[in-house]
Amino acid sequence: MKTFTQTLKENKHSLSKDEKTLLIKYISWQQRNARTVEQAIQNLDLPSIFEYESLKDEILENSPKKIVDLGCGSGRSSFFFFMNLKKQLPRDTTFMLADYDRVADGYDITKPFFDKENFAGAQGYMRDNKFILPYNNFNVAKILKNIFCPTMNMEILNLDENKIQNLSQVDIVYSFASIGYHYSIATAFEEYNIKNILRSGGKFICDIQRAPSGPGHKKYEEEIEQVTQMGLKFKKLVDGRAPSRAACHLRDFYIFTK
Ligand SMILES: C[S@@+](CC[C@H](N)C(=O)[O-])C[C@H]1O[C@@H](n2cnc3c(N)ncnc32)[C@H](O)[C@@H]1O
Repeated sequence: MKTFTQTLKENKHSLSKDEKTLLIKYISWQQRNARTVEQAIQNLDLPSIFEYESLKDEILENSPKKIVDLGCGSGRSSFFFFMNLKKQLPRDTTFMLADYDRVADGYDITKPFFDKENFAGAQGYMRDNKFILPYNNFNVAKILKNIFCPTMNMEILNLDENKIQNLSQVDIVYSFASIGYHYSIATAFEEYNIKNILRSGGKFICDIQRAPSGPGHKKYEEEIEQVTQMGLKFKKLVDGRAPSRAACHLRDFYIFTK
């Protein structure tokens, strides 16, 4: 397995000053104190290793050609999967990175994104306007792609403009630290038309940080149940506490199939 840190060392890239500033500013999800690009990139490794070790077989199964990364942020999960699985995936596999492209300046905080009561990630955008994290910026994903996955087929789906609801024959929709962290899984499932965009046998994978183990999603059991009521079969739970190297992230992965 190759980490981002190893790949960065091996492939020397000349980044502009603006690119460096952007990477340091936005890759702050795990740790907010990165001062260099190397530190920022290192912050992407642990959650990505964790997902990779937990899910690589699920990602490879049935040779997926269309993968949607819902709430992709920097796209790190998809880049890490591609970096490590590209030789085993079909050559024409496309990763569709879906998110909003919104930064602190001008962000419309009146949009009812977050439910403080039930979701760990409610702190993402504060409704009182006092503390708004500079959040998603697709330029970060574009820079990371150039560094780590230049040969990847990537499409960016800006959820303010693109309707992922119109996609079809999608093999996998996965969502990490997004659906179920910031937003209701069941609502997202319906809103983004996930059942219909998946092909028969396609997968929906989401992760849950459980409330008992820290700030988590208090209604996750109900939500998981609702997804099955809306027509997917529950396939498997990958207990996120298993991989010891990533013990800091107590996330579980819920895998459904159509
Ligand atoms: C904690 S970040 C995680 C990003 C990325 N998936 C990762 O694991 O590195 C959460 C992401 O979810 C996105 N997000 C928040 N609410 C969303 C919603 N309702 N639908 C889709 N994405 C959403 C945010 O813009 C942000 O990029």
